[in-house]
Amino acid sequence: MSTMGVASAFSWTNSISSTIQFPQTHTQLIGGESKRVTFWCVNANMDSASSPKESKMIVSVTGATGFVGKRLVQRLHADNHQIRVLTRSRSTAQSIFPVKEFPGIVIAEEPEWRNCIEGSTAVVNLAGTSISTRWSSEIKKDIKQSRIRVTSKVVELINNSKDDARPKVLISATAVGYYGTSETQVFDEKSPSGNDYLAEVCREWEAAALKVNKDVRLALIRIGVVLGKDGGALAKMIPLFMMFAGGPLGSGKQWFSWIHLDDLVDLIYEALSNPSYKGVINGTAPNPVRLGEMCEQLGSTLGRPSWLPVPEIALKAVLGEGASVVLDGQKVVPTKAKELGFSFKYRYIKDALKAIMS
Ligand SMILES: NC(=O)c1ccc[n+]([C@@H]2O[C@H](COP(=O)([O-])OP(=O)(O)OC[C@H]3O[C@@H](n4cnc5c(N)ncnc54)[C@H](OP(=O)(O)O)[C@@H]3O)[C@@H](O)[C@H]2O)c1
Repeated sequence: MSTMGVASAFSWTNSISSTIQFPQTHTQLIGGESKRVTFWCVNANMDSASSPKESKMIVSVTGATGFVGKRLVQRLHADNHQIRVLTRSRSTAQSIFPVKEFPGIVIAEEPEWRNCIEGSTAVVNLAGTSISTRWSSEIKKDIKQSRIRVTSKVVELINNSKDDARPKVLISATAVGYYGTSETQVFDEKSPSGNDYLAEVCREWEAAALKVNKDVRLALIRIGVVLGKDGGALAKMIPLFMMFAGGPLGSGKQWFSWIHLDDLVDLIYEALSNPSYKGVINGTAPNPVRLGEMCEQLGSTLGRPSWLPVPEIALKAVLGEGASVVLDGQKVVPTKAKELGFSFKYRYIKDALKAIMS
Protein backbone atom coordinates (compact mmCIF):
# COMPACT_ATOMS: atom_id res chain seq x y z
CA MET A 1 0.00 0.00 0.00
CA SER A 2 1.40 3.40 -0.85
CA THR A 3 0.51 6.53 1.07
CA MET A 4 1.95 10.02 1.51
CA GLY A 5 3.07 11.21 4.90
CA VAL A 6 4.28 14.48 6.39
CA ALA A 7 7.28 14.20 8.63
CA SER A 8 9.05 17.09 10.30
CA ALA A 9 12.67 17.24 11.44
CA PHE A 10 11.53 16.04 14.86
CA SER A 11 8.75 13.71 13.86
CA TRP A 12 8.42 10.03 13.60
CA THR A 13 7.42 8.67 10.20
CA ASN A 14 5.68 5.45 9.39
CA SER A 15 7.58 4.68 6.24
CA ILE A 16 9.58 1.58 5.78
CA SER A 17 11.05 3.00 2.63
CA SER A 18 10.34 6.57 1.67
CA THR A 19 11.03 9.05 -1.08
CA ILE A 20 11.09 12.76 -0.31
CA GLN A 21 8.54 14.58 -2.45
CA PHE A 22 8.49 18.28 -1.57
CA PRO A 23 9.17 20.52 1.43
CA GLN A 24 6.50 22.73 3.10
CA THR A 25 7.34 25.53 5.49
CA HIS A 26 5.09 26.44 8.43
CA THR A 27 5.39 28.47 11.61
CA GLN A 28 5.36 26.33 14.76
CA LEU A 29 5.83 27.20 18.44
CA ILE A 30 9.06 25.58 19.61
CA GLY A 31 10.18 26.16 23.19
CA GLY A 32 7.77 29.11 23.44
CA GLU A 33 9.22 30.78 20.32
CA SER A 34 7.59 31.00 16.93
CA LYS A 35 9.94 29.35 14.39
CA ARG A 36 9.71 28.49 10.72
CA VAL A 37 9.79 24.74 10.32
CA THR A 38 10.07 22.76 7.11
CA PHE A 39 8.02 19.61 6.74
CA TRP A 40 9.07 17.03 4.18
CA CYS A 41 6.33 15.20 2.41
CA VAL A 42 7.32 11.65 1.73
CA ASN A 43 5.99 8.65 -0.10
CA ALA A 44 5.80 5.97 2.50
CA ASN A 45 5.45 2.29 1.71
CA MET A 46 3.70 0.77 4.68
CA ASP A 47 4.03 -2.88 5.40
CA SER A 48 0.84 -4.24 3.89
CA ALA A 49 1.33 -7.55 5.64
CA SER A 50 0.97 -6.07 9.12
CA SER A 51 -2.50 -5.95 10.69
CA PRO A 52 -4.32 -2.58 10.66
CA LYS A 53 -3.95 -2.34 14.44
CA GLU A 54 -0.17 -2.66 14.20
CA SER A 55 0.21 -0.28 11.27
CA LYS A 56 0.83 3.32 12.03
CA MET A 57 -1.89 5.55 10.69
CA ILE A 58 -1.80 9.11 9.45
CA VAL A 59 -5.02 10.69 10.69
CA SER A 60 -6.31 14.13 9.74
CA VAL A 61 -8.77 15.47 12.32
CA THR A 62 -11.16 18.45 12.07
CA GLY A 63 -12.48 19.78 15.39
CA ALA A 64 -9.35 18.28 16.99
CA THR A 65 -9.11 21.19 19.43
CA GLY A 66 -12.56 20.45 20.93
CA PHE A 67 -13.72 18.34 23.87
CA VAL A 68 -13.75 15.02 21.97
CA GLY A 69 -10.97 15.84 19.49
CA LYS A 70 -8.40 16.65 22.17
CA ARG A 71 -8.84 13.26 23.80
CA LEU A 72 -8.75 11.48 20.45
CA VAL A 73 -5.51 13.23 19.48
CA GLN A 74 -3.93 12.33 22.85
CA ARG A 75 -4.93 8.72 22.32
CA LEU A 76 -3.64 8.53 18.74
CA HIS A 77 -0.42 10.30 19.70
CA ALA A 78 0.18 7.93 22.61
CA ASP A 79 0.06 5.05 20.11
CA ASN A 80 2.52 6.79 17.79
CA HIS A 81 0.08 7.48 15.00
CA GLN A 82 0.76 10.63 13.03
CA ILE A 83 -1.83 13.36 13.51
CA ARG A 84 -2.71 16.27 11.26
CA VAL A 85 -4.85 18.83 13.05
CA LEU A 86 -7.14 20.63 10.59
CA THR A 87 -8.12 23.82 12.35
CA ARG A 88 -9.42 27.35 11.86
CA SER A 89 -6.66 28.74 14.09
CA ARG A 90 -3.07 27.53 14.05
CA SER A 91 -2.16 29.54 17.17
CA THR A 92 -5.03 28.09 19.24
CA ALA A 93 -4.20 24.58 18.09
CA GLN A 94 -0.51 25.12 18.87
CA SER A 95 -1.34 26.14 22.41
CA ILE A 96 -3.51 23.03 22.86
CA PHE A 97 -0.98 20.69 21.26
CA PRO A 98 2.45 22.14 22.15
CA VAL A 99 5.13 20.60 20.01
CA LYS A 100 7.10 19.57 23.14
CA GLU A 101 4.26 17.27 24.17
CA PHE A 102 3.17 16.37 20.67
CA PRO A 103 6.38 16.11 18.63
CA GLY A 104 5.67 15.64 14.95
CA ILE A 105 2.07 16.82 15.08
CA VAL A 106 1.10 18.79 11.97
CA ILE A 107 -1.18 21.78 12.44
CA ALA A 108 -2.86 23.14 9.33
CA GLU A 109 -5.24 25.97 8.56
CA GLU A 110 -7.76 25.57 5.76
CA PRO A 111 -5.58 26.46 2.75
CA GLU A 112 -3.25 23.60 3.75
CA TRP A 113 -5.96 21.02 4.42
CA ARG A 114 -5.62 19.63 0.90
CA ASN A 115 -1.97 18.65 1.46
CA CYS A 116 -2.89 17.06 4.77
CA ILE A 117 -5.90 15.06 3.64
CA GLU A 118 -4.16 13.79 0.52
CA GLY A 119 -1.87 11.10 1.86
CA SER A 120 -3.67 10.56 5.15
CA THR A 121 -4.76 7.04 6.00
CA ALA A 122 -8.00 8.35 7.52
CA VAL A 123 -9.96 11.50 8.30
CA VAL A 124 -11.99 12.13 11.46
CA ASN A 125 -14.49 14.96 11.10
CA LEU A 126 -15.64 16.49 14.39
CA ALA A 127 -15.91 20.20 13.59
CA GLY A 128 -18.92 22.41 14.22
CA THR A 129 -20.13 25.42 16.18
CA SER A 130 -21.06 24.46 19.73
CA ILE A 131 -24.78 23.87 20.28
CA SER A 132 -24.56 24.72 24.00
CA THR A 133 -25.39 28.36 23.46
CA ARG A 134 -28.41 30.58 23.15
CA TRP A 135 -29.92 29.84 19.78
CA SER A 136 -30.49 33.10 17.97
CA SER A 137 -31.53 32.60 14.35
CA GLU A 138 -27.95 33.57 13.38
CA ILE A 139 -26.48 30.90 15.65
CA LYS A 140 -28.94 28.28 14.45
CA LYS A 141 -27.80 29.00 10.92
CA ASP A 142 -24.18 28.71 12.02
CA ILE A 143 -24.77 25.43 13.91
CA LYS A 144 -26.02 23.88 10.68
CA GLN A 145 -23.82 25.65 8.14
CA SER A 146 -20.52 25.15 10.02
CA ARG A 147 -21.08 21.39 10.04
CA ILE A 148 -22.20 21.15 6.42
CA ARG A 149 -19.44 23.47 5.23
CA VAL A 150 -16.55 21.63 6.94
CA THR A 151 -17.94 18.19 6.05
CA SER A 152 -18.44 19.17 2.40
CA LYS A 153 -14.91 20.61 2.27
CA VAL A 154 -13.39 17.46 3.75
CA VAL A 155 -15.39 15.26 1.37
CA GLU A 156 -14.37 17.37 -1.63
CA LEU A 157 -10.69 17.12 -0.66
CA ILE A 158 -10.94 13.36 -0.14
CA ASN A 159 -12.74 12.88 -3.46
CA ASN A 160 -10.22 15.05 -5.32
CA SER A 161 -7.20 13.25 -3.85
CA LYS A 162 -5.12 11.20 -6.21
CA ASP A 163 -6.35 7.60 -6.24
CA ASP A 164 -3.19 6.24 -4.62
CA ALA A 165 -3.14 8.95 -1.93
CA ARG A 166 -6.84 9.04 -1.04
CA PRO A 167 -7.69 8.33 2.62
CA LYS A 168 -9.29 4.93 3.01
CA VAL A 169 -11.62 5.90 5.86
CA LEU A 170 -13.82 8.83 6.87
CA ILE A 171 -15.26 8.87 10.39
CA SER A 172 -17.78 11.68 10.55
CA ALA A 173 -19.59 12.88 13.65
CA THR A 174 -23.34 13.35 13.80
CA ALA A 175 -25.68 13.24 16.79
CA VAL A 176 -28.57 11.35 18.38
CA GLY A 177 -30.60 14.49 17.69
CA TYR A 178 -31.12 12.80 14.28
CA TYR A 179 -33.97 10.78 15.82
CA GLY A 180 -35.93 13.70 17.26
CA THR A 181 -37.19 13.45 20.87
CA SER A 182 -39.55 11.07 22.65
CA GLU A 183 -40.28 9.90 26.19
CA THR A 184 -41.57 6.53 25.00
CA GLN A 185 -39.81 5.38 21.82
CA VAL A 186 -36.52 3.48 21.61
CA PHE A 187 -34.26 4.44 18.69
CA ASP A 188 -31.62 2.32 17.03
CA GLU A 189 -29.65 2.88 13.83
CA LYS A 190 -32.62 1.78 11.68
CA SER A 191 -35.08 4.27 13.23
CA PRO A 192 -36.31 7.11 11.06
CA SER A 193 -35.26 10.71 11.55
CA GLY A 194 -37.29 13.15 13.67
CA ASN A 195 -38.83 16.39 12.50
CA ASP A 196 -37.32 19.05 14.73
CA TYR A 197 -34.47 21.46 14.06
CA LEU A 198 -31.65 19.21 15.34
CA ALA A 199 -32.94 16.26 13.32
CA GLU A 200 -32.78 18.45 10.20
CA VAL A 201 -29.22 19.55 11.07
CA CYS A 202 -28.12 15.93 11.49
CA ARG A 203 -29.77 14.77 8.25
CA GLU A 204 -28.04 17.49 6.21
CA TRP A 205 -24.74 16.95 8.04
CA GLU A 206 -24.87 13.21 7.28
CA ALA A 207 -25.95 13.85 3.69
CA ALA A 208 -22.79 15.94 3.16
CA ALA A 209 -20.62 13.07 4.46
CA LEU A 210 -22.45 10.52 2.31
CA LYS A 211 -21.13 12.27 -0.81
CA VAL A 212 -17.69 10.80 -0.13
CA ASN A 213 -16.18 8.58 -2.84
CA LYS A 214 -17.71 5.09 -2.62
CA ASP A 215 -14.29 3.48 -2.21
CA VAL A 216 -13.82 5.32 1.08
CA ARG A 217 -15.20 3.49 4.12
CA LEU A 218 -17.58 5.89 5.86
CA ALA A 219 -18.65 5.57 9.50
CA LEU A 220 -21.24 8.06 10.73
CA ILE A 221 -21.17 8.16 14.53
CA ARG A 222 -24.47 9.41 15.98
CA ILE A 223 -23.10 10.70 19.25
CA GLY A 224 -25.08 10.96 22.50
CA VAL A 225 -24.36 13.39 25.35
CA VAL A 226 -20.64 12.94 25.96
CA LEU A 227 -19.65 12.79 29.62
CA GLY A 228 -16.14 13.75 30.60
CA LYS A 229 -14.25 15.78 33.14
CA ASP A 230 -13.34 19.01 31.51
CA GLY A 231 -16.04 19.88 29.05
CA GLY A 232 -19.30 19.01 27.39
CA ALA A 233 -22.72 19.23 29.03
CA LEU A 234 -21.56 17.86 32.39
CA ALA A 235 -19.11 20.70 33.00
CA LYS A 236 -22.05 23.09 32.64
CA MET A 237 -24.47 21.00 34.67
CA ILE A 238 -22.29 20.42 37.73
CA PRO A 239 -22.14 24.05 39.01
CA LEU A 240 -25.94 24.29 38.62
CA PHE A 241 -26.30 21.08 40.45
CA MET A 242 -24.15 22.29 43.30
CA MET A 243 -26.23 25.48 43.46
CA PHE A 244 -29.61 23.74 43.52
CA ALA A 245 -28.61 20.79 45.71
CA GLY A 246 -28.89 18.49 42.77
CA GLY A 247 -32.49 17.71 41.95
CA PRO A 248 -33.91 16.59 38.61
CA LEU A 249 -33.64 18.85 35.60
CA GLY A 250 -37.02 19.75 34.16
CA SER A 251 -39.56 16.91 34.60
CA GLY A 252 -36.85 14.26 35.03
CA LYS A 253 -38.73 11.82 32.76
CA GLN A 254 -36.81 12.70 29.60
CA TRP A 255 -34.35 10.13 28.29
CA PHE A 256 -30.68 10.88 28.53
CA SER A 257 -28.56 8.94 26.05
CA TRP A 258 -25.05 9.42 27.26
CA ILE A 259 -21.56 8.03 26.51
CA HIS A 260 -18.35 8.32 28.49
CA LEU A 261 -15.70 10.30 26.59
CA ASP A 262 -13.22 7.40 26.79
CA ASP A 263 -15.74 4.99 25.22
CA LEU A 264 -16.50 7.42 22.40
CA VAL A 265 -12.81 7.87 21.69
CA ASP A 266 -12.34 4.08 21.77
CA LEU A 267 -15.25 3.67 19.34
CA ILE A 268 -13.76 6.20 16.91
CA TYR A 269 -10.33 4.61 17.31
CA GLU A 270 -11.72 1.15 16.58
CA ALA A 271 -13.65 2.49 13.59
CA LEU A 272 -10.41 3.87 12.15
CA SER A 273 -8.81 0.47 11.82
CA ASN A 274 -11.63 -2.07 11.76
CA PRO A 275 -13.19 -2.51 8.29
CA SER A 276 -16.46 -3.81 9.80
CA TYR A 277 -17.20 -0.38 11.22
CA LYS A 278 -19.16 1.31 8.46
CA GLY A 279 -22.45 3.10 7.99
CA VAL A 280 -24.36 4.55 10.92
CA ILE A 281 -23.17 3.60 14.41
CA ASN A 282 -24.85 5.04 17.50
CA GLY A 283 -22.24 6.43 19.87
CA THR A 284 -24.20 5.91 23.07
CA ALA A 285 -23.76 3.70 26.15
CA PRO A 286 -25.85 0.50 26.35
CA ASN A 287 -27.94 1.80 29.26
CA PRO A 288 -29.50 5.21 28.67
CA VAL A 289 -31.27 6.61 31.74
CA ARG A 290 -34.12 8.95 32.45
CA LEU A 291 -32.81 12.38 33.39
CA GLY A 292 -34.19 11.99 36.92
CA GLU A 293 -31.96 8.96 37.45
CA MET A 294 -28.97 10.68 35.94
CA CYS A 295 -29.50 13.57 38.38
CA GLU A 296 -29.92 11.23 41.32
CA GLN A 297 -26.66 9.50 40.45
CA LEU A 298 -24.89 12.78 39.86
CA GLY A 299 -26.20 14.08 43.20
CA SER A 300 -25.01 11.02 45.05
CA THR A 301 -21.61 11.09 43.29
CA LEU A 302 -21.22 14.75 44.24
CA GLY A 303 -22.45 14.06 47.78
CA ARG A 304 -25.55 16.18 47.24
CA PRO A 305 -29.05 15.01 48.10
CA SER A 306 -31.34 14.98 45.06
CA TRP A 307 -34.44 16.74 46.30
CA LEU A 308 -34.61 20.26 44.91
CA PRO A 309 -35.43 20.33 41.21
CA VAL A 310 -33.12 22.42 39.06
CA PRO A 311 -35.52 24.75 37.27
CA GLU A 312 -35.58 24.57 33.49
CA ILE A 313 -35.02 28.28 33.42
CA ALA A 314 -31.66 27.93 35.22
CA LEU A 315 -30.50 25.31 32.78
CA LYS A 316 -31.63 27.45 29.87
CA ALA A 317 -29.67 30.34 31.35
CA VAL A 318 -26.40 28.42 31.01
CA LEU A 319 -27.15 26.25 27.98
CA GLY A 320 -29.51 28.57 26.13
CA GLU A 321 -31.90 26.83 23.75
CA GLY A 322 -29.14 24.21 23.57
CA ALA A 323 -30.63 23.02 26.90
CA SER A 324 -33.19 21.21 24.75
CA VAL A 325 -30.53 18.55 24.17
CA VAL A 326 -30.77 17.73 27.88
CA LEU A 327 -34.37 18.78 28.57
CA ASP A 328 -35.99 16.96 25.62
CA GLY A 329 -34.17 13.69 25.21
CA GLN A 330 -34.43 10.43 23.33
CA LYS A 331 -33.65 6.82 24.25
CA VAL A 332 -30.99 5.67 21.81
CA VAL A 333 -29.39 2.23 21.96
CA PRO A 334 -26.06 1.16 20.41
CA THR A 335 -27.33 -1.88 18.49
CA LYS A 336 -24.62 -1.70 15.81
CA ALA A 337 -21.73 -1.28 18.26
CA LYS A 338 -22.99 -4.32 20.18
CA GLU A 339 -23.26 -6.36 16.96
CA LEU A 340 -19.70 -5.35 16.14
CA GLY A 341 -18.61 -6.63 19.54
CA PHE A 342 -17.51 -3.23 20.79
CA SER A 343 -16.69 -3.42 24.47
CA PHE A 344 -17.94 -0.46 26.50
CA LYS A 345 -15.82 0.39 29.53
CA TYR A 346 -18.71 2.34 31.07
CA ARG A 347 -22.08 0.64 30.64
CA TYR A 348 -23.82 2.24 33.61
CA ILE A 349 -24.15 5.92 34.42
CA LYS A 350 -23.14 5.35 38.04
CA ASP A 351 -19.73 3.94 37.05
CA ALA A 352 -19.20 6.62 34.41
CA LEU A 353 -19.93 9.45 36.85
CA LYS A 354 -17.82 7.89 39.57
CA ALA A 355 -14.86 7.61 37.20
CA ILE A 356 -15.32 11.20 36.00
CA MET A 357 -15.66 12.71 39.48
CA SER A 358 -12.80 10.74 41.06
N1 LIG B 1 -19.97 16.74 23.12
C1 LIG B 1 -21.16 16.15 22.95
O1 LIG B 1 -21.88 15.84 23.94
C2 LIG B 1 -21.64 15.83 21.56
C3 LIG B 1 -22.87 15.18 21.39
C4 LIG B 1 -23.33 14.89 20.11
C5 LIG B 1 -22.57 15.24 19.00
N2 LIG B 1 -21.39 15.87 19.18
C6 LIG B 1 -20.64 16.29 17.99
O2 LIG B 1 -19.32 15.79 18.03
C7 LIG B 1 -18.41 16.77 17.50
C8 LIG B 1 -17.32 17.03 18.54
O3 LIG B 1 -17.94 17.47 19.74
P1 LIG B 1 -17.15 18.36 20.81
O4 LIG B 1 -17.95 18.35 22.06
O5 LIG B 1 -15.72 17.92 20.86
O6 LIG B 1 -17.25 19.81 20.15
P2 LIG B 1 -16.47 21.15 20.56
O7 LIG B 1 -15.74 20.97 21.84
O8 LIG B 1 -17.49 22.24 20.50
O9 LIG B 1 -15.38 21.31 19.41
C9 LIG B 1 -15.73 21.43 18.07
C10 LIG B 1 -14.57 21.94 17.25
O10 LIG B 1 -15.12 22.36 15.99
C11 LIG B 1 -14.41 23.48 15.49
N3 LIG B 1 -15.38 24.56 15.24
C12 LIG B 1 -16.07 25.31 16.15
N4 LIG B 1 -16.84 26.21 15.54
C13 LIG B 1 -16.63 26.05 14.20
C14 LIG B 1 -17.12 26.71 13.05
N5 LIG B 1 -17.98 27.72 13.13
N6 LIG B 1 -16.68 26.28 11.84
C15 LIG B 1 -15.82 25.26 11.73
N7 LIG B 1 -15.31 24.62 12.79
C16 LIG B 1 -15.71 25.00 14.02
C17 LIG B 1 -13.42 23.92 16.56
O11 LIG B 1 -12.12 23.52 16.13
P3 LIG B 1 -11.05 24.58 15.52
O12 LIG B 1 -11.21 25.84 16.30
O13 LIG B 1 -9.75 23.90 15.76
O14 LIG B 1 -11.37 24.74 14.09
C18 LIG B 1 -13.86 23.17 17.81
O15 LIG B 1 -12.80 22.82 18.63
C19 LIG B 1 -19.24 18.02 17.20
O16 LIG B 1 -19.50 18.07 15.84
C20 LIG B 1 -20.51 17.81 17.99
O17 LIG B 1 -21.66 18.40 17.39
C21 LIG B 1 -20.90 16.18 20.43
